[in-house]
Amino acid sequence: MATKGATKASYSKYVDSLIANVIGPGIEEMLTGPFFVALREGKLTKRQLQGISIQHYWHNVAIIKGFALSMVRNASYDPLFYRFGENLASEEWTHPAMCKKFGLYLGLTEEDFENATMIYEEEAFVGTIIRHMYMGGNPVLGMISSLANEGLLQRASAELDTYLQETPYNIPEDPREFFTVHAWVDIEHFSRSAEALGKAITDEHDEALVTNRAKDLIRFQQEKWTGYLTAYA
Ligand SMILES: [Fe+2]
Ligand SMILES: [Fe+2]
Repeated sequence: MATKGATKASYSKYVDSLIANVIGPGIEEMLTGPFFVALREGKLTKRQLQGISIQHYWHNVAIIKGFALSMVRNASYDPLFYRFGENLASEEWTHPAMCKKFGLYLGLTEEDFENATMIYEEEAFVGTIIRHMYMGGNPVLGMISSLANEGLLQRASAELDTYLQETPYNIPEDPREFFTVHAWVDIEHFSRSAEALGKAITDEHDEALVTNRAKDLIRFQQEKWTGYLTAYA
């Protein structure tokens, strides 16, 4: 678990308490929400699983395009130019394809992906991430995005990976790759984000901004998972 992994290390007094009091409980709340209850009870339909594939596909396409545009935008400032380049050249690049193969395994076609649109909750979630990439004034706001999302996605992926391989879903290893990968690599990404955030925060004003933004990010994630249930009911 990201929260357990993270609490082994100490990042800064503030980041440790943010993880213990906001992010950790947010993850637990997400896992007790209706989507994850349905997952564990074996009640997610094929259509809902296909929906996760389509939504995650378009979400990750938006993220890598955001990195690409951020590289261009920061071309005259090497630290940011290379940071966005690394994001783009790392595993992020492979995410859309991983999300798509999960859906193709479930019977979707290439046309289904082309013709799909983001659901309201996904659009709201990815929209806020992109806004912070381009217009976020205080860099700690981008950093809390990474920390909260790595933590939430890691636990969501671990849960999906565990239950999707069991009856009644019985989904084999290859189509589950997106979840398997994130169940592992995001433990490391979470630690890295926590360390960076701890170094970047300078005063109580930063702390207040970060705490509020963390709560919003948790809410976006929770609403997104519930959104899949209703949009693909
Ligand atoms: Fe990732
Ligand atoms: Fe990650």
